[in-house]
Amino acid sequence: MSEDTLANLLIEDRSFEPSPAFAKQANAKPDVYSLAEDRLAFWAEQAARLTWDAPWSEVLDWSGAPFARWFTDGRLNVSVNCLDRHVDAGHGHQTAIIFEREDGSSEEISYADLKDRVCRAANALTGLGVGAGDRVAIYLPMIPEAVVAMLACARIGAPHSVVFAGFSAEALRSRIDDAEAKLVITADGQFRRGDSMALKPAVDEAVAGAPTVEHVLVVRNTGQEVTATDKDVWWEDVVAAASAEHTPEAFDSEHPLFILYTSGTTGKPKGILHTTGGYLTQAAYTHWAVFDLKPDHDVYWCTADIGWVTGHSYIVYGPLANRATQVIYEGTPDTPHKGRWWDIVQKHRVTTLYTAPTAIRTFMKWGDDWPNQFDLSSLRLLGSVGEPINPEAWMWYREVIGGGHCPIVDTWWQTETGAIMISPLPGVTATKPGSAMRALPGISATVVDDHARPVADGEGGYLVLDQPWPSMLRGIWGDDERYVTTYWSRFPDVYFAGDGAKLDDDGAIWLLGRVDDVMNVSGHRISTTEVESALVSHPAVAEAAVVGASDQTTGQGIVAFVILRGGAEDEDIASKLRAHVAKEIGPIAKPRQIMVVNELPKTRSGKIMRRLLRDVAEQRDLGDVTTLADPTVMNLIGEGLAASKSDD
Ligand code: PRX
Repeated sequence: MSEDTLANLLIEDRSFEPSPAFAKQANAKPDVYSLAEDRLAFWAEQAARLTWDAPWSEVLDWSGAPFARWFTDGRLNVSVNCLDRHVDAGHGHQTAIIFEREDGSSEEISYADLKDRVCRAANALTGLGVGAGDRVAIYLPMIPEAVVAMLACARIGAPHSVVFAGFSAEALRSRIDDAEAKLVITADGQFRRGDSMALKPAVDEAVAGAPTVEHVLVVRNTGQEVTATDKDVWWEDVVAAASAEHTPEAFDSEHPLFILYTSGTTGKPKGILHTTGGYLTQAAYTHWAVFDLKPDHDVYWCTADIGWVTGHSYIVYGPLANRATQVIYEGTPDTPHKGRWWDIVQKHRVTTLYTAPTAIRTFMKWGDDWPNQFDLSSLRLLGSVGEPINPEAWMWYREVIGGGHCPIVDTWWQTETGAIMISPLPGVTATKPGSAMRALPGISATVVDDHARPVADGEGGYLVLDQPWPSMLRGIWGDDERYVTTYWSRFPDVYFAGDGAKLDDDGAIWLLGRVDDVMNVSGHRISTTEVESALVSHPAVAEAAVVGASDQTTGQGIVAFVILRGGAEDEDIASKLRAHVAKEIGPIAKPRQIMVVNELPKTRSGKIMRRLLRDVAEQRDLGDVTTLADPTVMNLIGEGLAASKSDD
């Protein structure tokens, strides 16, 4: 955690009440916290938002802790809850998705149309031999077919594993392998800054080493040429030709809905498993309460990518279960100009914007002139997610984007939690710039010390969740033991989130970043070990240590210290290694800086002293180095730092 965060925290005493007008019309009212004191009764009430084919017998079965079962014996179909029931209720004409392309053209897809597309895709998947329980990998850009593919999988009970389309072939292959996916859904390519970038070659490379994959279903998006393989099937052939009639099957509340891979402290990504009834209940409730959704008036826009959990819960499942009208944008924020997002807000009269601090800081850097050129008066609520938002960025978001009148919801949650856990309620909470404030109704979060004792107001510690919640992960795909050791063994009987947090004098929660070896770069989790493994897989590297250093825009930046093998001197080594990491993991994991060193600081037992490396990377004073095996190492590293420069 950076010293800046702490310093800001000490002086932060601003607080913003919701306006009486907002509070009056808000979905969640102040009494909700007391109404939720009986947690299970509260969640039972929220589950009634959904349409169930068979009622549940028990709200929570925690007898197999830490493996939860919510709404046991209940049966439902997620895609029916997101589509059919809205169409049946007479909302078929309502726009579900406003798809904005990078070139400025847009397309509106109604709920009725989306349902037809999902039914066709569901029939096509069945035709390709995909059945309930089979895993489907989805490697697609931000196009409507991504949403259609996810809902079609949900409709037939085939858990999807969406892999961010910026990940490399190798990263895709390891995820396909781990989930033993039967089908991969991809596109020829994606548009980026006016160019089309191929996606299919990465899939071909990944699938060549993945024997479980029977077919690759390819969406024609850019129209670029692709090399055909004998597994390819074109979306436009099989989906368009399929019937739009599809009778959905109801699945058990605990039927797996999706697997989503995320970084942990070891090199191997974890397949986070989410199931059906509890997940959809909490995704829908939080989307309604935190974003104050008014389905007949709001135009909602979550800027996340479908490849991250935010895209799952707050583009697909929460909003569609609540009958939202939402924007999906395929392009980048600076194409054709740095006001692109604000142009979209103006064009579609967006009311609710949900984005990440890294984006907000980038816009701050680009200057107020860009947003000021556009009419942002339609906005009424702003959200933030992915990393701590610094008070300066929060204030800028409020003043420049929100015109000083929009509540800001800083939402803390994780891939593992499935849905928002800590956040202001926009019509209830007086917000403080930089604080996620308090646990939502029905959720119990505590900050504890090393001995699992709750800390007092004004103190810091570790964030834990001490009661099960409906959208909690049900495990790590294929690795129950890792689930227990990763999340449930640091403190007895509570879920340890891996984040540091502090309570202020009023008991509000301030997130302080990861306490483990996981970095947070632009709101994306990347493990230090993963990047280290990628680096040492390069023939020139003997040893590598990676740390996250604070970065003004991205939150943290990746800094790598490498020892080269004898004779591997090469002027260009930094750019070669960065390219190598991009190939192994994806451009997102490319180190901001690579420092070639002769030694790494280690304790006498041989453990790399990351704290010192982080100090060097952040150019702070080195502090106490007496536990080092060779204290001169730090001087060597320090000299190396002075001589090296970022090659970005
Ligand atoms: O460190 C916390 C940070 O992001 C981590 C979860 O990352 P991921 O599973 O990729 O999910 C990101 C989107 C939900 C957390 O452990 N984080 C997320 N939201 C916040 C945050 N840190 C501070 N404030 C937040 N609002």
